[in-house]
Amino acid sequence: MKKFDMIVKNGVVVTASDTYRADIGIKDGKIVELSSDLNEDAVEVVDAKGKYVFPGGIDPHTHMDMPFGGTFSSDNFKTGTIAAACGGTTTIVDFAVQPKGKSLKETAKIWREKSDGKAVIDYGIHMNITDMTEDVMNEIPEMIKEGYSSVKLFMTYEGMRVDDGTLLRTLMKVNESGGLTCVHAENYYAIDYNTKKLLSEGKTEPIYHALSRPDLVEGEACGRAIKLARMVNAPLFVVHNTCEASISEIARARAEGYPIMGETCPQYLLLSEDNYREPDFNGAKYVMSPPLRDKKNWPVVWKALKDNTVQLVATDHCPFFMKQKELGKESFTKIPNGAPGVELRMSLIYTYGVVDGKFDLNRFVQVTSTNAAKVYGMYPQKGTIAVGSDADLVVFDPNIETTVTQSMLHENVDYTPYEGFKLKGYPVTTISKGNVVAKDGKFVGKEGAGKFIVRKAPMMI
Ligand code: URP
Ligand code: ZN
Ligand code: ZN
Repeated sequence: MKKFDMIVKNGVVVTASDTYRADIGIKDGKIVELSSDLNEDAVEVVDAKGKYVFPGGIDPHTHMDMPFGGTFSSDNFKTGTIAAACGGTTTIVDFAVQPKGKSLKETAKIWREKSDGKAVIDYGIHMNITDMTEDVMNEIPEMIKEGYSSVKLFMTYEGMRVDDGTLLRTLMKVNESGGLTCVHAENYYAIDYNTKKLLSEGKTEPIYHALSRPDLVEGEACGRAIKLARMVNAPLFVVHNTCEASISEIARARAEGYPIMGETCPQYLLLSEDNYREPDFNGAKYVMSPPLRDKKNWPVVWKALKDNTVQLVATDHCPFFMKQKELGKESFTKIPNGAPGVELRMSLIYTYGVVDGKFDLNRFVQVTSTNAAKVYGMYPQKGTIAVGSDADLVVFDPNIETTVTQSMLHENVDYTPYEGFKLKGYPVTTISKGNVVAKDGKFVGKEGAGKFIVRKAPMMI
């Protein structure tokens, strides 16, 4: 019997706090030894010479096989997690959207049927409550105990949104049950007013999606959600922050000591409102909510990521084929909201964050892995390289230079919003619980090897 199942040798190990040369010994899916020179027998040796070894990426905001606008997002748990693995991500946390009239138990069952036996990397599941009743409210403690330790509410989207009273009561209930409430913050009434006005003027093209939901729509809702959280002393996590209007609200609350946290996504750091003006309905590729913003927001969002006003980068991966986007040919209101991104997150943030000098390697690890593990109750099982942690690792070659094109990706969709983007640094080997799942751009793992993560209480960071 060999001492190790795998040794990752000769790499530079990077964690949220340290950067050092070490070999990593792995047994039964866990990291069991870290040493400057491991020479014992191992079943498999992965040579990481000249490369970084990061904790596997964690993307805590994905939508696999999600019903939206009369269709479903085009990646399922198999295709979407293959894409994630090929891009250096070893854990996702997906949103189980409650169908009207269903209990949370039934919602979890629907999502577990989509994911169990199909995902190739580990996954957690958030409860996305859309139909709050007294019975549903009373189910929250049990769901949190079973590892669905975060609840998301939409403040907009007809048929899925909740009112302020529901948000307030949910914040209280989730907090007293040891979980974390997340919100999609946009002002429903302002969007509704703007949309009706634009449509009455015959303005139906994709750009009007953005113009119907300006930055103040997001800033107002973000500030309101924060104030509701403060009223009941509950922590709050604001998903997909795009702009100064919302980030300034989070910054102020944090400066005053309130447990408010948030994320942003690569699209809000690298793409802009101008993309909606691409000809031939190409603007539909970028229809997502909240929408892409004026470029002037980019430095504000990058700074928030560096200074921990927002703690992490997720993708909000929610792909639709162009054929599906064409449901909205006649009106931007019918374009399914969402875009792909799960596969490029690590490389985009490394290239435009680390290589461009916006932050260092340790901050890169914090925002792509460690902080998501902490916020969503998976640390230190996930999100670090330490003895006892899951052997979820990505061997990352900082010298690979490439230009993004759809054909190099594994996402089940026919475009990428990042077509033509230059990358410097790319994952070469992704290891999930001690098994290589992706190598040199190819998936080599197993369908169903990913398991549901029973998540614990959030950490405030
Ligand atoms: O446009 C988006 N973001 N679609 C997915 C659902 C959501 O709001 O996160
Ligand atoms: Zn959202
Ligand atoms: Zn989302």
